[in-house]
Amino acid sequence: MALITAPIGQSIARNAIGLALFAVITAGTIALTHAITKNRIADQVRKAEASALLEIIPADLHDNDLLSDTVDVGPAEDLGLKSAAVAHLAREDGDITGIILPAVAPNGYSGPIRLLVGINSRGEVLGVRVTQHKETPGLGDKVELKKSNWVYSFDGKSLKNVQDGQWAVAKDGGEFDQFTGATITPRAVVRAVHGALVYFDEHRRKLLDTPASTQPVEDH
Ligand SMILES: Cc1cc2nc3c(=O)[nH]c(=O)nc-3n(C[C@H](O)[C@H](O)[C@H](O)COP(=O)(O)O)c2cc1C
Repeated sequence: MALITAPIGQSIARNAIGLALFAVITAGTIALTHAITKNRIADQVRKAEASALLEIIPADLHDNDLLSDTVDVGPAEDLGLKSAAVAHLAREDGDITGIILPAVAPNGYSGPIRLLVGINSRGEVLGVRVTQHKETPGLGDKVELKKSNWVYSFDGKSLKNVQDGQWAVAKDGGEFDQFTGATITPRAVVRAVHGALVYFDEHRRKLLDTPASTQPVEDH
């Protein structure tokens, strides 16, 4: 067996240190990029949710600060929420006129779909907005208002005016259209909106009795 001479040994040690340094710097850069990207995505989701809240219940339908008047709702199976989350409350003269529930459809084509479901005090849908999804462009992404008006088909619907079995896409015998070549995404969203209405119905009293957590807003 040949002996490793001193200069060769030093060269191997230098290369090993160089490689180790390279690995540490690369891993650090990846970790940093991941952390920055994650924060940016979370920030974008928050912004999308804030503007969706005001689309669902416009300023002229409430006199409180919708963004900060909240009630805890998660975790909740009917909402698809595995952890803590808040719903936003709309008030007029102190009375709750509507609530915007967060919901997650766990069974989208490409993973969970996050939604906001606005419901008035009579249990009717005020509006639905998808705030985050990974569905396929041109197929499942029609649940986004930017791509199609499909989410408007929930407006005014309630557990009273749409019977239980009708909370499904037309292909499954229900009331809501699927998309051409894409049934899985709309099916998941219909289920999630129905779940939100069931949650509201079961927790109605507690939700509508939530004391105001903010002062009324004078001007909008
Ligand atoms: C590449 C690819 C992407 C797809 N993306 C979606 C999608 O985002 N949403 C969806 O509902 N279906 C999508 N589909 C179609 C589904 O696989 C399925 O055929 C369709 O939703 C009909 O479902 P059904 O047989 O349960 O009615 C995609 C199919 C392919 C091949």
